[in-house]
Amino acid sequence: MPKVSNPPPDPAADPVIVNRRGAARLTAGHPWVYRSDVVSRPEAPRFAPVHDERGRPLGWAAVNPSSEIAVRRVHAGAEPVGGETLVRALDRALDHRERLMADPASGIAGDEGVRLVHADADALPGLVVDRFGDVLVVQSASAPLEPYLGALVEALAARTGATGVLGRFDSSAREREGLTTDVRVLAGHVGERVAFVAGGLALEVDPWRGQKTGAFLDQRVNARRLAAYAHGRGLDVFSYGGGFGLRLARGADGAPGVRELELVDTSASALQQAAAAFERNGLPRPRLEASDAFARLRALDAERRSVRGPGFDVISLDPPALAKRRRDLDRAYAGYKELNLRALKVLAPGGVLGTSSCSFHVSEEDFVTMLEDAAADAGRACRVLGRFGAAPDHPERLGFPESRYLTFVLLQAID
Ligand SMILES: C[S@@+](CC[C@H](N)C(=O)[O-])C[C@H]1O[C@@H](n2cnc3c(N)ncnc32)[C@H](O)[C@@H]1O
Repeated sequence: MPKVSNPPPDPAADPVIVNRRGAARLTAGHPWVYRSDVVSRPEAPRFAPVHDERGRPLGWAAVNPSSEIAVRRVHAGAEPVGGETLVRALDRALDHRERLMADPASGIAGDEGVRLVHADADALPGLVVDRFGDVLVVQSASAPLEPYLGALVEALAARTGATGVLGRFDSSAREREGLTTDVRVLAGHVGERVAFVAGGLALEVDPWRGQKTGAFLDQRVNARRLAAYAHGRGLDVFSYGGGFGLRLARGADGAPGVRELELVDTSASALQQAAAAFERNGLPRPRLEASDAFARLRALDAERRSVRGPGFDVISLDPPALAKRRRDLDRAYAGYKELNLRALKVLAPGGVLGTSSCSFHVSEEDFVTMLEDAAADAGRACRVLGRFGAAPDHPERLGFPESRYLTFVLLQAID
């Protein structure tokens, strides 16, 4: 492989100056400062030292004057950030994953689908790396990091032995950073579909066209938690490729698995992938419902009322982020409430609902308040079986609430 460019740091880079509010955020442990809290900034994206208005140093950061998140701090020290610093951060992220993969208590030991790098929570601004078997899928959304991608990919391939690395550079976050968008092979060979095994299931992703990097790895431990209650009739709403549904069909921890299952998603191609996965794993084909989840839950509720049916014994609700921005919160609350209210209405007595929010603007407390509201309106009394976050390879960074974006609550209808 030709030697990849790995630009050295620029110790003489002009500092970026942040106001009191920006300095207070950094001092409290949050890595980001918004453009409105930056007083002076470089003309072009670069790694630069950060100072407060009195000239006190606050570390080094990826600085992009044209991005809303203008400062993404890498560390609080004095060492100029260059390829060496970034590859060291990458090594630490990979060390952590290796420990998790070897620890039976992590819940993800031995999985071949793993999040190797979780962006700013691993001190790598905007960089996400997911591993599916021998293939790595990279997303990058920080302009100052861009010149170092070659060095990072080389280090990733060398350390993991991956046979192919794909750049999924097609997210709207890149547009907001002023970066070009495309999808391209960064190293080796990447096929149309990539097979891997996780939790005893033979899975496949489409790394080129699938949502995000191809699969949602953050929910796989929660899917196993819900599967521990799987029996009778199951419903996987917002199923994508069947992350929850496959587990519900397989069962876990002594639960036999559901005998009947419906998957609901607007994406017909995701449902087709799910159907192929059920077949590959020798599981009965579920009912596939290519519908809007709100409409489908309303229809199931109406059906239950007219025929007085038995309801579902296990349900997963895993919508996309309904509050992408803070100003969406009221509408998002109403959306989550409507979904959960309908789901609780169609839940059988003793049935279990695994309900999720991946909107970081919706705190766990707010989500539970919404669930109280929905349960009261549905006239259901519920036992909280547990509250959880994302799988441990999606680490939360202390002081950085954006890294604690996923809430998963297991509720059981008491009667
Ligand atoms: C967070 S992903 C679900 C991930 C999945 N549960 C898993 O574990 O792999 C959200 C899914 O919701 C689907 N979706 C978005 N809006 C929808 C709607 N209004 N009705 C049904 N599905 C929707 C998307 O196609 C996507 O597959």
